[in-house]
Amino acid sequence: MTDQSVNFRNQAAVSSAAAGLAADRFGRVLVLGGGYTGHRFATALARLGIATTVSHRQAREPAQPATAPGPSQLHFDPAQGIRPSLEDLEGITHVLVTIPPDAAGRDPVLDQLGDLLAELPLQWLGYLSTTGVYGDTGGAWVDETSATVPGLERSRSRLACEQAWRQRNLPLQLFRLPAIYGPGRTPFQDLRQGTARLIHKPGQVFCRIHVDDLVGALLHNLALPAASRPDTLILADAYPCSSSETLGYAAQLLDCKLPVLQPYHQIAATMSPMARSFWSENRRVSSTLLRQGLGYSLRYPSFREGYRAILSALDQPATDPAALEPPMR
Ligand SMILES: NC(=O)c1ccc[n+]([C@@H]2O[C@H](COP(=O)([O-])OP(=O)(O)OC[C@H]3O[C@@H](n4cnc5c(N)ncnc54)[C@H](OP(=O)(O)O)[C@@H]3O)[C@@H](O)[C@H]2O)c1
Repeated sequence: MTDQSVNFRNQAAVSSAAAGLAADRFGRVLVLGGGYTGHRFATALARLGIATTVSHRQAREPAQPATAPGPSQLHFDPAQGIRPSLEDLEGITHVLVTIPPDAAGRDPVLDQLGDLLAELPLQWLGYLSTTGVYGDTGGAWVDETSATVPGLERSRSRLACEQAWRQRNLPLQLFRLPAIYGPGRTPFQDLRQGTARLIHKPGQVFCRIHVDDLVGALLHNLALPAASRPDTLILADAYPCSSSETLGYAAQLLDCKLPVLQPYHQIAATMSPMARSFWSENRRVSSTLLRQGLGYSLRYPSFREGYRAILSALDQPATDPAALEPPMR
């Protein structure tokens, strides 16, 4: 089994993080974008007994058998002009936007659904953004109070989308995320296939969050009284580190050989522009507000706990077809 086909086994932990969530506080939750995070968030809510609808660009039938609680599906494809009507959104009180800016840097949700959302009796609209909006700090820490100085074009677009959302009169909460990892998003496959690269750039660190902690933190946040929720919140683990440290540990867990170490400056020219852009910025993002301010206990404080859990889940038989992951893109 590849780590992409692992079931959503950590549901119990996600549920306990949200023990304060009472289904009767919700009308219906709309998750815009049923990708890696959106699918898991929507599934977690549905399992808590909260009516949930998740959007996809391709119309699809529910994947789970009728006995398993799962989100209903909504067809939303802004590029094709396919969008729900006000009637389709009846009863929605909470929305999570996981859809990124489009190729032109615009927010397809705001463009296509902004006016419709404004007509709903929304209590909460969560928007998943990126810590890229803080730009390059040379490895220094940033938190929610830090200045936003995006250096990359896509981060400038993201900040513009954040600002466009803020200009709407909606109960908005922004979540800024570093790299999201979890089943199917680890170095294990590359190591096994011999395609992993061990790259060293002095002083360079990356930040990350396990997808189960991302979902758990969103649920934890929703269980708080609305007045206690910060308008901007970084969701990250507590351990920024180099990519050579993560790859080294993954290789140790797999008991496989590490590739030869390559100095970044020698190979940068051979990397894709996208890969190079990730290495062009260096910052440590703080999740102190999440952990100490809001009291969320990370299930995976560092990638080490996360990688171990992902690998051990790979050794167990899949038991719950209701929570199968969508295919990776
Ligand atoms: N992945 C990371 O490491 C990372 C890091 C920081 C921030 N983020 C941000 O966090 C959010 C969630 O990340 P993720 O990794 O869970 O994302 P993901 O797996 O790529 O899922 C994104 C979802 O958005 C939908 N979508 C994308 N473009 C769309 C468009 N133009 N119109 C309508 N739907 C569109 C996709 O639809 P389909 O299901 O139809 O394909 C998919 O359901 C994203 O905004 C992402 O940019 C991600």
